[in-house]
Amino acid sequence: MVKILTAHNDAIRQAADILKSGGLVGMPTETVYGLAADARNDDAVKSIFDAKGRPSFNPLIVHVCTLDDAMELAEMNGEALMLAEHFWPGPLTLILKRKNDCGLSHYVTAGLATVAVRIPAHKTARALIKACDFPVAAPSANKSGHLSPTAAMHVAQSLGDKVDLILADGVSRVGLESTVVDCSGDYPVILRPGGIAAAALSEVLAQDIAYHSVEIAEAAGEDVRSPGQLLKHYAPSIPLRLNAVDVREGEALLAFGSVKFMATTSGQHVNDLPLSRVMNLSKDGDLDEAAAHLFSMLHSLDVQEFTGIAVMSIPEHGIGVAINDRLARAARG
Ligand code: TXA
Ligand code: MG
Repeated sequence: MVKILTAHNDAIRQAADILKSGGLVGMPTETVYGLAADARNDDAVKSIFDAKGRPSFNPLIVHVCTLDDAMELAEMNGEALMLAEHFWPGPLTLILKRKNDCGLSHYVTAGLATVAVRIPAHKTARALIKACDFPVAAPSANKSGHLSPTAAMHVAQSLGDKVDLILADGVSRVGLESTVVDCSGDYPVILRPGGIAAAALSEVLAQDIAYHSVEIAEAAGEDVRSPGQLLKHYAPSIPLRLNAVDVREGEALLAFGSVKFMATTSGQHVNDLPLSRVMNLSKDGDLDEAAAHLFSMLHSLDVQEFTGIAVMSIPEHGIGVAINDRLARAARG
């Protein structure tokens, strides 16, 4: 059995000791739980890839506590600084030019000249990184290609005793991974929609920022800049059917907003279906609430008792863009 401890001071000290000696810790953050290791230690970093079954070409995010720490690792241009000052600590990851003397393992960055850096806002994540006093590499704490964890239990279910210790600290507030913005080129672009909406980034930058999706890059004949976006991702084990307007035989329903006009092929009203078959991301149609619930509800409905999950449509604005990105990947999986 994997060890799970409530994230009080003593547990955080134990977790820091594990990281210092090259082990792996399940670390709560405000986005999702991460699988943490010492970002300078080749063997520790390699064990992250092994535990997740993650392909070695897919680089990891490095977590630090302060802007000064970030600047020791990477070059930050004016735009990177504007975003960092406004959104850190928080659900934003910046892709920056890696400094030669940064001391990071080359496995963390998968041999690239850039590094992904994030300053998390979660108090336990911050306390753990501070106690370590070195940069902490952490991808989401799930098997590669599976749903991201928003609770300690999800980490235990996905990775089990491949983790030395899981720090439990409730449910992740944002519930979706950070927005990844590439600031290493001529102008910033979004590589992964996430916890911070494009409009909020544009406002701070005083310029429009585009989402450089894998599909767009491929259509333009360019190199894909975010290796992780190539992979099948966030997939539950039963099929997902998007933009559903009805619930079919054997399906569970992942609702959003009012279910008043949702039909079922069995002729019942949705409200008469068993409670275990229907979950609502947000009865009020609130996108932040929906994001916070997305992975945990997919986890709950992902059981063999159902033939699939019918998902109602989610508005494509604000954090809805990131929700739809995860749903589209899950449906493809
Ligand atoms: O919210 C989050 O970002 C969570 C928490 C734990 O911080 N972490 C997370 O990590 O989602 P992960 O490994 O699941 O996703 C990192 C993404 C991947 O798509 C990866 O390809 C991309 O960031 N990435 C990392 N380094 C990169 C780099 N140098 N250039 C381009 N993309 C990079
Ligand atoms: Mg992930």
